[in-house]
Amino acid sequence: MKPKMDLVAGARPNFVKLAPVVRALAKSGSVDFRIVHTGQHYDFSMDGVFFKELGIPDPDIHLEVGSGTHGVQTARILERYEAEIMKDRPAAMVVVGDVNSTLACAVAAAKLRIPVVHIEAGLRSFDRSMPEEINRLVTDAVSDLLFVSEKSGLENLQREGVADEKIRFVGNVMIDSLIYHLDIARRKKTLQKYDLQRKNYGFMTLHRPSNVDDEKTLKALMELFIELAEDLPLVFAMHPRTLGMIKKSGMEPLIRDSGNHLKCLEPQPYLDTISLVEGAAVVLTDSGGLQEETSFLRVPCLTMRENTERPITIEMGTSRLVGNNPDRIRKAFEDALRGEWPKGSPIPLWDGKAAERIARELSKWLKSRQDE
Ligand code: UD1
Repeated sequence: MKPKMDLVAGARPNFVKLAPVVRALAKSGSVDFRIVHTGQHYDFSMDGVFFKELGIPDPDIHLEVGSGTHGVQTARILERYEAEIMKDRPAAMVVVGDVNSTLACAVAAAKLRIPVVHIEAGLRSFDRSMPEEINRLVTDAVSDLLFVSEKSGLENLQREGVADEKIRFVGNVMIDSLIYHLDIARRKKTLQKYDLQRKNYGFMTLHRPSNVDDEKTLKALMELFIELAEDLPLVFAMHPRTLGMIKKSGMEPLIRDSGNHLKCLEPQPYLDTISLVEGAAVVLTDSGGLQEETSFLRVPCLTMRENTERPITIEMGTSRLVGNNPDRIRKAFEDALRGEWPKGSPIPLWDGKAAERIARELSKWLKSRQDE
């Protein structure tokens, strides 16, 4: 009988990372799996449209946890996932990335001695004020098999004393999705839909608590974006967390009255997002995934953070840290528009085949555990 595994996802970036793994496992046929959706993200624009575009089968289990404080959301996932795996115990479970769903399901499984597999392990920002850093540390600490996307991940795990036999450097599943979908995305003609000219606009996203939860910080950034958009039209795909803060603090009129250069959109589906990124002259973001996607596509990326858990995107890619100080961002924006920006080079194992390597390694690893 084939071993049966759980594949867990809960929030938008998880879906993009899980899709190639589902495809590779289905193709290899060596492992059975069920898909567990925690329900951390639930709006169609953050969830359903991703399943649809990425071709992920409907979840077999849906925990429907919704939003909440970190404690509430994590606890709900833990409680509900534990109940599922007590009823029907998988041979192993796979989590991706660094969101609350990743942490909660990894902990629930580890306590029941169900082997935990972490995809995108070892990334460290060394900044524990980021909720994701706590999630990464705890998830890796309870994982039995750790798939790494870039060399810093390998170094971090080795330094933390994780045994070499638990670690596999396989590359980046986010880039697998990008390579697989790029041609399909181009056919969607997203630039035409929004009346944009290739390389004549900037694309933006912003959702980190450090940038959007404080009203003063967000207002200064919004004023800056309105100013920058006078030089280059900006398309802002707005996360619900950011929109919530803009509404709460009465910033809507500021944006409305600023003319047409800063175009605020709903969260964009996956295919539109990668089209908008590929066509952009520059990207401004605080997203982890976009640092990687812009590096692959060689689009200049201003990363509005003070640190990154993805240092390869700076060493070899096109991302640069610009923090959230308006003067620093403005200067970097001008540099990027003048072409004074690193061109980037190919990053090892970001070749569209990470999920195939994961599927191969997983089936070998499960087999060796069965034989023990
Ligand atoms: C989460 C992840 C973050 C990831 C991001 C990608 C954690 C700690 N954070 O942040 O690492 O980069 O997802 O998007 O896991 N909301 C909706 N509809 C939804 C989901 C959320 O309106 O479908 C709103 C709710 O008001 C919610 C807020 O967004 O309270 C934040 O959602 P949450 O999942 O807690 O965190 P994100 O900021 O999305």
